Order: sequence, then C-alpha cells, then structure tokens
Amino acid sequence: MCGIIGYVGTRDASPILIESLKKLEYRGYDSSGIGLLDHGSRLIVRKSKGKIRNLEELLRSHPLPFSTVGISHTRWATHGLPCDENAHPHTDNKHQIAVVHNGIIENYAQLREKLKKQGCRFISQTDTEVISHLIAACYKGDLKEAVQRSIKQLKGAFAIGVISKDHPDMLVAARVGSPLIIGLGDDENYIASDVPAILDRTRRVIYLQDGQMAVLTKDKVEVFTFDGKKVAPKIDTVSFTIGLAQKEGYKHFMLKEIHEQPGVLEAMLKTRLAGGKLKLEGLDVSDKVLASIKKVMIVACGTAYHAGLVGKYIIESLARLSVEVDTSSEFRYRSTIIDQNTLIVAVSQSGETADTLAAVREAKAKAKGAKVVSICNVVGSSLVRESNGVLYTHAGPEIGVASTKAYTAQLMMFYLFGLKLAQVRRSTPRSRINKIIKDLQSIPRHYKELLKKNSNVLKVAEANSHFGCFLYLGRNINFPTALEGALKLKEISYIPAEGYPAGEMKHGPIALIDEYRAVVCIAVASHVYEKMISNIQEIRARKGNVIAIATQGDREIAHHAHYVIEIPRIEELLTPLLAVIPLQLMAYYIAVKRGNDVDQPRNLAKSVTVE
Ligand code: F6R
Repeated sequence: MCGIIGYVGTRDASPILIESLKKLEYRGYDSSGIGLLDHGSRLIVRKSKGKIRNLEELLRSHPLPFSTVGISHTRWATHGLPCDENAHPHTDNKHQIAVVHNGIIENYAQLREKLKKQGCRFISQTDTEVISHLIAACYKGDLKEAVQRSIKQLKGAFAIGVISKDHPDMLVAARVGSPLIIGLGDDENYIASDVPAILDRTRRVIYLQDGQMAVLTKDKVEVFTFDGKKVAPKIDTVSFTIGLAQKEGYKHFMLKEIHEQPGVLEAMLKTRLAGGKLKLEGLDVSDKVLASIKKVMIVACGTAYHAGLVGKYIIESLARLSVEVDTSSEFRYRSTIIDQNTLIVAVSQSGETADTLAAVREAKAKAKGAKVVSICNVVGSSLVRESNGVLYTHAGPEIGVASTKAYTAQLMMFYLFGLKLAQVRRSTPRSRINKIIKDLQSIPRHYKELLKKNSNVLKVAEANSHFGCFLYLGRNINFPTALEGALKLKEISYIPAEGYPAGEMKHGPIALIDEYRAVVCIAVASHVYEKMISNIQEIRARKGNVIAIATQGDREIAHHAHYVIEIPRIEELLTPLLAVIPLQLMAYYIAVKRGNDVDQPRNLAKSVTVE
C-alpha cells in the first residue's frame, strides 16, 4: 500500500531510486514520482500516472540532473484519483520541501483548512499534501526540528521521507503505523518501505520503530524519538538473498512463488519438526497457559483469514478447543466475548495489515492479560511487535499480490500449532499425533509431484477460461479451500467467483447454475465425499459444468464431473494443503490466458496498511 524509497550518498540518485522503486511496485501501482535536489540546490520533481514504466518514459524525455539525494514513491490511491497531481512527492508552495508518504493522515481535513487560512494553496486532493505545507510552516532553518514539530500534529498512520532544498545532503524519515526501514551502505544510506527494495545494495538494516524518526546523511544515521531523544538503533542483518526477490526465469512472481512452496514447507518442517519433535520457537506462551486456555480467537484478513478458517478445523479436531475466526475488520467493531482465558491468534503475511493490527489492539484492550500469538511472514513487522509470541513462517518475500506460498506456510503452521496444543492438552492419542507428523513430512514430496504434473490443470484452465462466473464448493475443512480458490480467481482474472459451503448451495447459489457457469467442487476422499457427490449431481441436473478436485485412484468421480484434477491421497485433515495447489495454478493459468497483469492485479495492493 504505497512504496517509498529514499537515497543519500555519493552516486547519482535517480537510477538507484527508480530501480529500487520497481521492487516496491507490488505495494501500489496507480502512479509514481521522484524528487531530487541538484547541487545548485534546486528541488526537482517528476510524476506520472500509471505504472513506474510511465515515469521512466517521462525521465527519458525530461532527464534529471545528477543528484546525490532524493525520494521516490509508487502509489495506491486513498485520497484523490490516480493522476499526476495526486502522485507523490508533494511539495510546499515555495517548492522547498518534498515529501513521500505511505499511510493515511486522518486529521488532514482540519489541517488543510488551517493551512489554507495561513495562505497555503493546495494542488492535490491527497491527505499527504498537508505534510509538506506543515513542514514548510514549521521550518526555521532546521529540517529535523520542522519535521518533528509537524509530525506531532498528525493523526493516523504514516511513514514519510522528506528532503529540503536547504539541506542537499540530508534525508529525514519518520514512522507511525506504516512500515519503514533504513538501509546502511558504504558512504550511502537508504530508507524504504520494505527490505527487497534495497537488498541488492545492502543487507544491514534498521527497522525504524513506531514513534521514531531518523536523520540520514551519506555517512551517518541518527535515530530519535518524536520528542527528540536520541536512541541507539538495533542493526539487523537480513538473511534472505536477492534471488528470493527476483523472478529467476519465471514469467511471473506468482508462478515462481507457487513453485517455491515445496521448498518453503520443507524448510519449515526441517526447523520445526527436527527429529520428529515439535519446535515452536518464538511461541513464548508457556505450556501451562496453553493447557489452561478455554477458547482460541483467530483474526486475519483475506487469504490469511482463509488459513485461519482451516486453523479452526485443525485446532478443534486435535486440541478439542473451541475456536472462533473473524475477519479483522469485523472483529474490531463487534462486541466479542473474550477474556484472559482466550488465546488470540493473528495471522498475517505482511504483519502490517491495518485491520489486523487494530483487531489485536482491540482484543488486548478487551481481554486484559490474554496472550496474543501471531503467525507472520515478515520479520520485525508491527504485528510481531504487538504480540506476546510469534510463529514465523519464513516463506521468504512474497511479491506476487495474490498470496500463495504465504497461505500454505500459514496452513502448515496451524498444523504444527494444533499438534502442540494437542500435546500439552493431551487431547489426541500419541499414535495419531505421530501419524499426522509423518504425513506432514510427506507434503513437500506431494507438492513436487503436483507441480510436475500441472499440464492437466493447464488443460482444464484453458478449457474453462471463457466462463463468466465460477462457483467454488467445498465441505468441512475444505470449505475454506473453496473460499481461497474463489478469491485467487477473482483477484487476478477479474471473473466473478464465489466460494460456498457445498451444503448451502441449495439455499440460494443453486439459482446461479446453468450451462454458462463453471462449478469447482472439492471432492477429495473424506467423510463428506458422498455429500459432495450428491451436490455434483444437483449441479449436473441443472447443466452446470463441474471441475472436480479429487483424490488419486477415485474411479467414481469421472462419471460425475466434466473435468477431474487429482491430488495425492492423504489423511483427510491434511487435504487443504494439497487441494489448494491446483486452485492456485488454475487461477494463474486463467488470468494469463485472459492477458491480465497477474502480479499486479487492478485496484489491489500487497500490504493493506489503511483501514
Ligand atoms: C489475497 C491476498 C490478501 C491478503 C490480505 C491480508 O491473495 O493477498 O487477501 O491475504 O490482504 O494480508 P496479510 O496477510 O499481509 O495481513
């Protein structure tokens, strides 16, 4: 949700900024811009509607001068349409100060009125523009002080980068709510929304904390609280490699990330199930507390919410604990009944999703003393800092906007966590726990097999890509799989797709079915298999086109479905791990066939840092 990057050093800033900005394009891509200071101390800004390639074109026709300090931004619109004027950086009226911003300024309307009365002319419809005018109004020759005085007046979430014409060797940054990292180089330093943007330049980073600001020059980074108190920042070394943030021969990041899933789960199992023993490092909630909890409350958004729904079935089955799952945006506004005996589990790839962060804060306020465990991919994210314990999925950077490897890693973590709860609560016989552990260890091998034999999925996708509406049906633990399959398809192909519990079909969705609809039925071997077959027959009786996800060796299904995609046979509880793979691939192939931008689907952004 908007990407920002800043550079101060000795090299020419603009090519560095543009190359790095492209690695943040997954965060937003409706417009972009760049602001530089040349050493005649002019502030130069170029902006363009659309993707970063449009900005690059503009820079070819209107080249920028050599500069060693600059800021750049790729936007996902919140306030004001995508257009050149609303693109960042925003400047003050004297064109002395430029600002890039990720987040939302909630009191921008009041600030705007106040600044207008002081004579400021506003050019854009954005909330961000108030920041540049505010800094200019507070500026008395010291940029750090002006930023500090301005940000104290802001309400909402922000990560900002600021440059000033009077300070051609300085970059100032600050954050509340939205992520911001500082990259430490040799004779140069960076700010960025996310690590992949600077990974080919440095591995040494500072994760700026909420309520902190930083002053960067080419050879120094100083971090302060908003009250001006200097703090000694922790310097981390990023462990993942640049390869993880590149396509490495794949046509799209999404396809690469689908193919990374066997490796991700293999690595998880190696560290978390070494020698067949569960190792949930980071959980930081004692066995005594886990044994005493009475309820689990899972909060998450989108794909992570679907992982949470599968988590409910896993925990209820293995730990015999009551589990509630809610989308974060609903949870935060309802009067949920939770207390200190409730364990809150927040699931998020990015750890920066505004609604999930708010849900966790709400839960902590409601249930004093309740523990919060997050299942998260991004190390050091805001969610992790707000949780008592964290179960990192370590799936590596997920760049494709449609989540794939983060989802299966979240599922795997729920299985491991479910087993842990079952162990401490003695709710499942040891023999069953061992059997599940053994089956989990076979998952990476099954993934490799599924991905190798994907030509059938491609065939099915191509044969069905013309349908204008898809229904996804599943029962029990594969009802969330149906939801996730439908979400993947609609996100990247823009085909209306609905996920439903198959038993609910007769209560409404059946009205949709005719020869122009495709219905994906997850009919894997399970205790609800016969029920799924009955649903398929009901669909066939109404001329619907059935694509079945079924278990290898099922001879019956071919008599009922038009198309069958097989997954390997596995214990019923683990089927969501396998059934989702063909659904990810099918969504991908259909979107490609329709000529869509798979990695950057319209209107979406990877990390949703606004409500
Ligand atoms: C779907 C997708 C989104 C995210 C959702 C939550 O493919 O990516 O639905 O799952 O925005 O994001 P995180 O997991 O970062 O909290």
